[in-house]
Amino acid sequence: MPSWVSARRSSKCPTTPAGLPERWRRSNASRRAAGRENPEERTRTVLEELFGVAGKVVLVTGGSRGIGLAIAEGFVKCGARVYLCSRNAEACALAEKELSQYGECRAIPADLGTAEGRRALTAELTAREDRLDVLINNAGAIWAETLDDYPESGWDKVFDLNVKGSFFLVQALVPLLREAATPDAPARVINIGSIDGFHIPHHETYAYSSSKAAVHQLSRHLAAQLARESITVNVIAPGMFPSKMLKGTVEKHGEAAVLAPVPLKRFVSPSDMAGAAIYLASHAGSYVTGAVLPVDGGTATTL
Ligand SMILES: NC(=O)c1ccc[n+]([C@@H]2O[C@H](COP(=O)([O-])OP(=O)(O)OC[C@H]3O[C@@H](n4cnc5c(N)ncnc54)[C@H](OP(=O)(O)O)[C@@H]3O)[C@@H](O)[C@H]2O)c1
Repeated sequence: MPSWVSARRSSKCPTTPAGLPERWRRSNASRRAAGRENPEERTRTVLEELFGVAGKVVLVTGGSRGIGLAIAEGFVKCGARVYLCSRNAEACALAEKELSQYGECRAIPADLGTAEGRRALTAELTAREDRLDVLINNAGAIWAETLDDYPESGWDKVFDLNVKGSFFLVQALVPLLREAATPDAPARVINIGSIDGFHIPHHETYAYSSSKAAVHQLSRHLAAQLARESITVNVIAPGMFPSKMLKGTVEKHGEAAVLAPVPLKRFVSPSDMAGAAIYLASHAGSYVTGAVLPVDGGTATTL
């Protein structure tokens, strides 16, 4: 488990509906009144007001390992109440135990590639919470096979989860997102796309690259629809993160070959992923919607 965020719990909740300048004025005044003005405290306060996510209710799908676990850990350590979901109940319980040492984390096992699984997750979450501040659609599947042999079952598995699953989870959870949404503090949907959605991958992962391009376009469409309800929708498009999903590729080709096309010459790190997600979920990210944010060390963006 990477340990890159201090386990300190924030005492400030950034979800108050007031605008930032007003909040700055108020906090400056109270600091002066208390005679506690010092640069360190000012820096901490500004960082909390800009990027704080304490008190937010966050759902991370596929949060039991890999990118989802890194994002969930970041939010838990910053004081959010985090729910994570994946199919394997044992892996869910392990992740819940691991993250609970830093703060609030509950795991809800469900298969989000099925309508039944999405219904079960929605019912469980609705029973526990009356609002959802941040939905992170991260659970994803990949299938690699030659063009001649690419099976329809592989195509369906990838699309059922990556595209259909994400869309219908937004549909199911939009009532809870509406409860959290205000013009000054919008609710957020963050979909995990991929740079494979806008460049051509080296591998024969036809359904995967197509599904991620679909996730990017679906997110922009949802962003246009949900902006009027103060719900933002954005995409993080990661480059290569050394998870189970990437393991086979690295084993087959070796780390040096895999990293050769990456200008910044390293894999995506847990803090890269958590940092991008926290930014999009925070006050600092509240005026961003319909964006696809590549976090790829320049792989696709400097081509
Ligand atoms: N790794 C990369 O280099 C990379 C690059 C770009 C984008 N991405 C994207 O980032 C996201 C996370 O990828 P990752 O690399 O962290 O993959 P990973 O290590 O394979 O993790 C996938 C997560 O999703 C869960 N999951 C899979 N199928 C599910 C289902 N039907 N219902 C519910 N949960 C399910 C898995 O748990 P269970 O198996 O227990 O269900 C696991 O928690 C994916 O959307 C992926 O496409 C990854």
